[in-house]
Amino acid sequence: MSNMTVSRDHFPKDFKWGVATSSFQIEGAHDRDGKGPSIWDAFCEIDGNIADASNGHVACDHYARWPEDIELISRLGVNAYRFSMSWPRVQPDGQGTWNEAGFAFYDQLISALAARGIEMHLTLNHWDLPQALQEKGGWASREVCAHFERYAVEVARRFGHRVHSICTHNEPWVIAILGYEQGIFPPGMQSRKQAMRAVHHLLLSHGMAVKAMRGLGLTTPMGIVLNLSPIYPASDDPQDVAKSKIDDGLILRLYMDALFKGEYPQDVIDHLGDDAPPVQPGDLATIAQHNDFLGVNYYTRNFSSSGNPWDVSSTGNTVTDMGWEVYPQGLTELLCRLHHDYQPERLWVTENGSAFKDQVIDGEVNDPQRLEYLRDHIAATHQAMAQGVPVEAYFAWSLMDNFEWASGYAKRFGLVHVDFATQKRTFKNSALWYQNFLLGN
Ligand code: FCB
Repeated sequence: MSNMTVSRDHFPKDFKWGVATSSFQIEGAHDRDGKGPSIWDAFCEIDGNIADASNGHVACDHYARWPEDIELISRLGVNAYRFSMSWPRVQPDGQGTWNEAGFAFYDQLISALAARGIEMHLTLNHWDLPQALQEKGGWASREVCAHFERYAVEVARRFGHRVHSICTHNEPWVIAILGYEQGIFPPGMQSRKQAMRAVHHLLLSHGMAVKAMRGLGLTTPMGIVLNLSPIYPASDDPQDVAKSKIDDGLILRLYMDALFKGEYPQDVIDHLGDDAPPVQPGDLATIAQHNDFLGVNYYTRNFSSSGNPWDVSSTGNTVTDMGWEVYPQGLTELLCRLHHDYQPERLWVTENGSAFKDQVIDGEVNDPQRLEYLRDHIAATHQAMAQGVPVEAYFAWSLMDNFEWASGYAKRFGLVHVDFATQKRTFKNSALWYQNFLLGN
């Protein structure tokens, strides 16, 4: 793959080339201008939750430095930007009054991006749920769905005609499983039953929100973003093969079947037994609203093993600073499968990127591994398109180094380096490569 050459000319003229960020990871200003606390603010306060004991109080200080950051986006030469709105910034408790100062922040951001001709792809929930709603049970509580619907309608009413798409949730699997089953993300719970309640309410609130936003008469494309990857059995041992089937069900089919077929896969429901999602009559029809796009976040492939955990170094491929194998073919394979099994109207790669240990030396950041990762995954996207898959967008994760959740600031995914002591931004060589690629070179 590493000798693959691909250029912008191989893609349609209107292909969306972007970078992505999320509110909590970059904004900082955690209590400014009336913002309420999110579940991530609360989670960071508990010792041991974040690897470097950091928090999102300042992050990239994007709340103050957004004009400079828009300059970076513009300098890169992308035509699209994917970002999220912080719900507690615009509705501090997730239920009551709207915070006009919070909306004003996004209003100016959207105006500035529009002035530069950059398409805006807005996510409503990239994980920073208002903490006040967690106190009502968070996503495990059905009550939260109606609050999310109301928030979605308010945002769509104000900004829906100015942005180029609206995504309800980013990665429901991560929210539900890492938060409610594994307990390594907020709310730090360890219960499969609660996790499956969260899955169901995330999907249900997606359907409710899409339906209600369309009710405003908006034609803005609406959809959802899932974290997906191909899963292989670690060996041909029948137990590993069986494990990989159920893992695929738990990670991919549970979400895709509900969203695109209006049903939960029976083998997964049987496997979950008493922990299965709490479906009420009509829920699945609500979940299966038509999606104008499906956003796919792809980082690596996975292996399922019924015995010892899979050893990532055994593939011989490069492993990133997250411990994730670099496997571009997995993206081609995944896109082809989604198209074949579910036919979403449009597929967008909404996140793809890699963390490596970068250093600024004499004002330069030489990051050949990230550059190769980017180049090879763009080529992998193209390979899927060459096989007839309707892919229309590629967003690199991320515009700049930021708060990488429970890993804190130690894991750097940015195309732009951020010195967190000074907030100085420096284009890495991967950013310069992307810029050149976008210029058609
Ligand atoms: C994804 C998240 C994104 C970022 C990347 C590395 O799961 O959506 O915010 O943290 O992983």
